[in-house]
Amino acid sequence: MSKKAVYVMGMLLLAVIACEKITPGAPDPGDTIAEPTDGLTPEQTALFVNGDELFARVFTPEEGLGPIFIQSSCEGCHVGDGKGHPFNLETRFGKQTGNGFDFMLDKGGPQLQERSISGYLGETLPSDYTHTTQRLAPIVIGMGHLAALHDSTILNMADPNDINGDGISGRVNYVIPKDYFKPETIHLDSSGFFIGRFGKKAKEITLLDQVVFALKQDMGLTSDFDTEDLFNYQIANGATDNVPDPEVSSDIVDKLVFYMRTLKTPTRRNENDPDVLAGEKLFTQIGCANCHVPTLKTAVSDILAISEKEFHPYTDLLLHDMGPELNDGYPEGSANGSEWRTPPLWGLGLAEDSQGGTGYYLHDGRATTLEETIGLHSGGEASNIASNFFALTQSEKDQLITFLKSL
Ligand code: HEC
Ligand code: HEC
Repeated sequence: MSKKAVYVMGMLLLAVIACEKITPGAPDPGDTIAEPTDGLTPEQTALFVNGDELFARVFTPEEGLGPIFIQSSCEGCHVGDGKGHPFNLETRFGKQTGNGFDFMLDKGGPQLQERSISGYLGETLPSDYTHTTQRLAPIVIGMGHLAALHDSTILNMADPNDINGDGISGRVNYVIPKDYFKPETIHLDSSGFFIGRFGKKAKEITLLDQVVFALKQDMGLTSDFDTEDLFNYQIANGATDNVPDPEVSSDIVDKLVFYMRTLKTPTRRNENDPDVLAGEKLFTQIGCANCHVPTLKTAVSDILAISEKEFHPYTDLLLHDMGPELNDGYPEGSANGSEWRTPPLWGLGLAEDSQGGTGYYLHDGRATTLEETIGLHSGGEASNIASNFFALTQSEKDQLITFLKSL
């Protein structure tokens, strides 16, 4: 099936669910996802709507798309602000050398752009790479809440040397900020390094970093923050498109960031169902909540609606060693191959809606059921906790899965 067909199917599914609104019953999942945070001012809501349009906008070659790219819109991967499909995996590559890891920037790294605008050639992997990593687009709801956490909230959950002896040693990813980075009061400076929180290995510090990276590495669009266009080194050095850089204005970048900041956190479904409540208890009892931390609180924010708010992302935003099976050999910031940031579990029960009916889980979507996903927690820091899950009775396992699907 083509990517487009999957996308259309996802959209149709959402539309069908939306039609069920007339009959009272379960809340409409469509309502729970691409909505603004409650309590925005009318001006903020207008900006949100603007950002929503940009997130869905298909950029054209005339506007600067390419010359090489992966998708022409943010929605092309984050379908309906939800998770992506394995047809749209991102591939990054690099080379392990005696002196460290080489992201092969001189050969088109770190990311592979296989598509191109007319008249250009898409990229292929250079012959001398040693490692690739594949990433499935995550759900992007609630990002503003994660962005509004104080660094100290994240640091307080870290236990890099496992002092408390629970076998879990989450640590933060310290990364070197981009040259345009302006630290806010929530950011703690650690000798020039700052705590990353976005991306599957937490390599990006801010939503601005993530949006600038996506515009360029996913869509081939330059901005004021990164003015050098992509080009395919296999053809010629500097073979770029004809659109003058920067291709998108900082206004567009700002609106996309604002949209990410103000997207609502997902609304739970069936949260008072007795099985869901029992599953929720088990989730904490067996230790899932040690990493997938249920409740966090934002710091003071200039957007009142997300300022000092408790929310439920089910993540600690820390890196954990997940063992050899999930090791991609690909370092990012201070994260090594087997380390991954705990992904938020909010919206998990909505994943299938944006993925064409089947859920795809973990960084590259390799697992298609939640049991399989938990099974793949067996190799690293989470191994005892995965064993706890498999030691549950069948009905307890079912309750825990029912709980996950209510998120
Ligand atoms: C080609 C597919 C693709 C496109 C297009 C794309 N993204 Fe992403 N997005 C991803 C993947 C994959 C990740 C995880 C990246 C990583 O692991 O570093 C991601 C991560 C993110 C995150 C961080 C999520 C988190 O949990 O930390 C945000 C925010 C985001 N994207 C926003 C955007 C915006 C805004 C656009 C459009 C300007 C966009 N994305 C375009 C694939 C895509
Ligand atoms: C040591 C920390 C840790 C513990 C404990 C832990 N997880 Fe995870 N979990 C992670 C990390 C890190 C990932 C991402 C791994 C990857 O993408 O390769 C993950 C991924 C997941 C995912 C996939 C999310 C998605 O969007 O693809 C689910 C579901 C999940 N965990 C559920 C659980 C459950 C249920 C438990 C308890 C049985 C649990 N986890 C215990 C760290 C942990």
